[in-house]
Amino acid sequence: MKYDVGGLQLDRPFRVRRLGHFGFHTNNVNDTVEFMTGILGLSISDTEDFSARSTEPISEEDARAWFLRLGSDHHTVVLGSQNLLDKLEPARAGQLVNQMSWQVGTLQEVSDGMDFIAENATLRRIGRDAPGSNWHSYAYDPDGYVIEIFYGIEQIGWDGKSKPRSMYDRGFTTRPDLPQIPEYQEVDQAAARGDDVHAGYRYEEARRATFNVDGILLPRPFKLTRLAKVGVFVEDVESSTAFYRDVLGLAVSERVTVNGHDCVYLRADSEHHSLALYPAALRDVYETEGHSFGVTCGFAIANYRQLKDAYQFFVDNDVKILDLPPQLSPGVKYGFWIQGPNKVAIEIFYGMDRVGLDGSVTAKSFPPSVSEWPDSITYGGAGWYDLPLMGPFA
Ligand SMILES: [Fe+2]
Repeated sequence: MKYDVGGLQLDRPFRVRRLGHFGFHTNNVNDTVEFMTGILGLSISDTEDFSARSTEPISEEDARAWFLRLGSDHHTVVLGSQNLLDKLEPARAGQLVNQMSWQVGTLQEVSDGMDFIAENATLRRIGRDAPGSNWHSYAYDPDGYVIEIFYGIEQIGWDGKSKPRSMYDRGFTTRPDLPQIPEYQEVDQAAARGDDVHAGYRYEEARRATFNVDGILLPRPFKLTRLAKVGVFVEDVESSTAFYRDVLGLAVSERVTVNGHDCVYLRADSEHHSLALYPAALRDVYETEGHSFGVTCGFAIANYRQLKDAYQFFVDNDVKILDLPPQLSPGVKYGFWIQGPNKVAIEIFYGMDRVGLDGSVTAKSFPPSVSEWPDSITYGGAGWYDLPLMGPFA
């Protein structure tokens, strides 16, 4: 059975193009926002107040979800309150993953993909969210983690403003009929009825920009260029691998034994991996070693020198550097792990292997420890998956 996807014969009616955004829950929402903005340099695009959803009283901190970006995508990271989740959705209580969201190429693919996913998994919700404007289908993976395929996420432009709330009338909580009007007509309609289309939120960076980051002044000596990976602990690695490979269409790049446990690394494009599946038993290993994380994510950084400067910046700012095995990072050229907010381990890296034209990982490699980093490195050329940031650093 083949599906026609824009004239391509594919095994499923959609094609995941990249990891788009990652959401996680935290018990310390405000501290987490401070870490993600102040230390990592993400910007706030919007916040959303969920207090109306809770039947019990809830603090303002726990009621608020945060949408953060590092480029023009409206959100790259979504932060939600663990306390709120545990109250609203007891079945997901304690779950650190808020969402793992994968971009597809068209709205048609979101719609057709929803039916395909529904044959193999339980759907969560369908429609289009505001804030963010992305058309989506949400479902559950075998561990009950929320996954999403989406199209058309809102792009934040030079003025740094997101869409105003008055335009949230174009959000959908049910399956949209296709076709839909283009976004410029939505703006035309809002303007015609008298909306101030420039009334959206704009993040104001209060920190002084004192670091010369390859010619641009920033409040920290580096720029994260993309969300590159997420890693989750799963009950059954093979079931999860089958789900992400056969339902979502990711490709298995490599299987690696980490601390005696077999992990699977998958990709959406030609990057070595953007999803890591760790067996749940591995989490116990790290807990025994005194680590405290239940999910991981990783960001690519603009270049090698900035990676070194970032490492020093984290040390200077008392960010905890995690001593984790290099086998957690197959295909990563240079990188290190930090303890993120609450229970998230975050990898910061520069350089990742690109999978060869025949779909195989040609040179199995793991990153060296920080103490072995040279002053400068030989660039890997076409063998590295090294995407530029499309817009300005900030
Ligand atoms: Fe999403």
